[in-house]
Amino acid sequence: MEDGFVRIASLAEVPEGELRCFELEEGRVAVAHVENELFAFGDECTHEGCSLAEGELGEGEETVVCPCHGSEFDLRTGEPLAGPASDPLPVYPIRARDGWVEVRPIPEG
Ligand code: FES
Repeated sequence: MEDGFVRIASLAEVPEGELRCFELEEGRVAVAHVENELFAFGDECTHEGCSLAEGELGEGEETVVCPCHGSEFDLRTGEPLAGPASDPLPVYPIRARDGWVEVRPIPEG
């Protein structure tokens, strides 16, 4: 697409309250669907590289918790809220359009 977004899945493939991982040319991107909002971020934990899509969403929070050693990241900013990870995740622009999930795989900021 001209604006740099790529279709990665149908909206039905990322149900509310779930995490999914997608392989893009640029690397693995995780997508979270939380309270009608979509978030896209690097799937590799900045601690030791575990897949965050295998982890859990924070309870009532817009966060993801790494399955390996429990680092917790803010889905909106990618910032680590709890260690051992100390570096932020890349976060990506994401949108739902015509029943598709579209990501621009260039980190924001
Ligand atoms: S790899 Fe994620 S917390 Fe260690």
